[in-house]
Amino acid sequence: MHRISAKILLGVAVFLAVILQANTLQAQDAAKLFKANCASCHKPTDQKLIGPGLKGIRSRWPDEAKLIAWIRNSTEFLKTGDAYANKLFEEYGRSVMPAQNLSDAEIIAIIDWTDKGGDAPAAAAADGAATADGAGAAAAETSSDSYLYILIIVGLVLLVLINVLNSVKSSLESLVNEKKGIVVEPEPIRTPTEKFRIWASNNKKIVAVISLLLVIWVLKQGWDGLMGIGVYQGYAPEQPIKFSHKLHAGDNQIACVYCHSGVEKSKHANIPSANVCMNCHMYIQEGPQYGKEEIGKIYAALDYNPETRTYGPNQKPIQWIRVHSLPDHAYFNHSQHVAVGKIECTSCHGPIDSMEVVQQHSPLTMGWCIDCHRKTEVDKDNKYYEELHKQFVNDPKYKKGDKFTIGSLGGLECSKCHY
Ligand code: HEC
Ligand code: HEC
Ligand code: HEC
Ligand code: HEC
Ligand code: HEC
Ligand code: HEC
Repeated sequence: MHRISAKILLGVAVFLAVILQANTLQAQDAAKLFKANCASCHKPTDQKLIGPGLKGIRSRWPDEAKLIAWIRNSTEFLKTGDAYANKLFEEYGRSVMPAQNLSDAEIIAIIDWTDKGGDAPAAAAADGAATADGAGAAAAETSSDSYLYILIIVGLVLLVLINVLNSVKSSLESLVNEKKGIVVEPEPIRTPTEKFRIWASNNKKIVAVISLLLVIWVLKQGWDGLMGIGVYQGYAPEQPIKFSHKLHAGDNQIACVYCHSGVEKSKHANIPSANVCMNCHMYIQEGPQYGKEEIGKIYAALDYNPETRTYGPNQKPIQWIRVHSLPDHAYFNHSQHVAVGKIECTSCHGPIDSMEVVQQHSPLTMGWCIDCHRKTEVDKDNKYYEELHKQFVNDPKYKKGDKFTIGSLGGLECSKCHY
């Protein structure tokens, strides 16, 4: 009985793993792969970004083998002298598409997905600015992980089933024994841990399968974390002090620059030190929601005694957890956008003043930066741009009706954002 059920369980688990794995590579993983490797330059729609929109891509590339070769390494492919590819390359100002370390199956999944124009929620997530709150991205994440959860749940259900079958079996046996008049010694009483240990040593295969699934799951979580997958829109880590932007910037109307004083002058918007908090919390010692508890953590960081109003020697900075983070190779400057470009914090960070916990509102992908640079028109009346606007209009390539955007200023040049 035990032997057979272990084999069945193993078989079912492997079968399910294969089926579910194969299915998910098509839809969610394609969206994820696209987001990780292509979304900085392409949209899964008709719209251009750095490269062409990829909707209906199969109609432009009737030969799938060529299309795969092109996506894997376009520089190599151009050397074959393919006329269409070389024309496209010239058309896009000889921009080089990075070589991709992807399998055929992964590339085909991306092609299938984009050919249809992407699916609604994931396309919106890749599209960036279009998603209001990152719910789309979060949904795509969960569904792609869910097959592992399903496997674990199926495993647990099978376990319960086996146990039930076993107990049915033993009660049948005792019934038969009773009929035959055989007296069986009652089983010794055991604690649940002992029972589990005995069960585990009788069912080594089941234990092995479950441990294997757990290990795979843990590895996958770790891998996703490393690749930064899922730590995009909607990321809202719990902070060491329950600091609420809604309470401070919303209800109490404290200006953003009061605390983030660097934002108009420098590249970075600084996080305020605990001393800035003390400007008010020297006096405000209790909060409406958490009483003295959370404000007490400010005092603890400064080794401050609110009774005697004295600071001690054991001060340590509050370890705020970073929410927004661009990779090192990308250059972003706050003062350029806030002071010169006159862009509101909320255009990029969303409704911070109604957030209890800060969350990443925008995708912060290259596509997102480029999209805004392409769409945003420069204020011609701003003295700062007067000279540049003259140059733009006098350029021989200028056609009447061309829009004077951040892109026309050079905001689409690779070197402006990459060192
Ligand atoms: C750094 C920007 C960049 C990235 C990343 C990128 N591409 Fe491209 N892609 C381009 C550019 C630019 C072109 C236009 C041709 C050229 O200049 O090489 C292009 C062209 C293409 C074409 C041909 C389009 C047409 O209309 O025929 C396909 C297909 C394509 N890319 C797929 C992908 C896929 C799939 C990925 C991700 C695995 C990807 N690209 C990643 C920049 C990029
Ligand atoms: C009373 C001080 C204070 C005010 C006013 C304030 N903030 Fe903050 N802000 C903080 C602190 C402290 C943190 C770090 C803790 C956190 O993330 O909640 C922070 C974090 C942030 C972050 C996330 C930083 C990261 O790690 O990526 C953003 C974005 C932000 N604030 C924007 C704003 C905007 C926009 C406003 C105005 C609407 C504003 N803040 C007003 C104190 C303040
Ligand atoms: C300009 C004044 C001002 C500054 C600066 C300030 N706060 Fe506050 N804080 C307030 C006010 C006002 C309240 C609400 C008090 C009330 O409603 O009773 C408050 C409440 C709080 C609460 C209590 C929340 C609750 O519901 O219990 C915490 C925690 C807090 N602040 C943390 C901070 C931290 C951390 C900083 C520094 C990064 C900071 N504050 C900076 C004005 C300020
Ligand atoms: C054009 C988009 C944009 C605007 C406008 C903008 N931010 Fe940011 N913000 C970003 C990006 C992108 C990052 C991540 C920067 C990085 O990782 O280097 C960021 C990061 C931050 C951080 C974390 C610390 C840092 O500098 O990395 C804070 C705090 C912040 N922003 C506050 C603000 C405040 C306050 C305003 C308005 C006065 C504002 N931001 C306006 C895009 C913007
Ligand atoms: C909401 C719109 C918006 C978003 C999103 C945005 N920018 Fe900008 N960006 C602007 C505007 C407006 C200017 C013009 C300000 C100026 O003239 O300096 C600008 C200018 C720039 C410049 C200077 C360009 C030049 O020609 O001197 C750089 C570099 C830049 N942005 C980088 C970024 C990066 C990197 C991101 C994404 C992380 C980003 N921007 C996201 C609106 C945006
Ligand atoms: C307006 C700013 C901006 C411009 C212009 C820009 N990039 Fe980027 N780029 C970024 C940002 C921000 C990231 C990081 C995005 C992320 O981590 O998803 C990035 C990421 C990348 C990556 C890493 C791949 C990826 O998807 O993370 C490559 C490769 C790249 N850019 C190439 C280019 C090339 C080539 C050009 C010129 C055709 C260019 N970039 C122009 C802002 C820009």
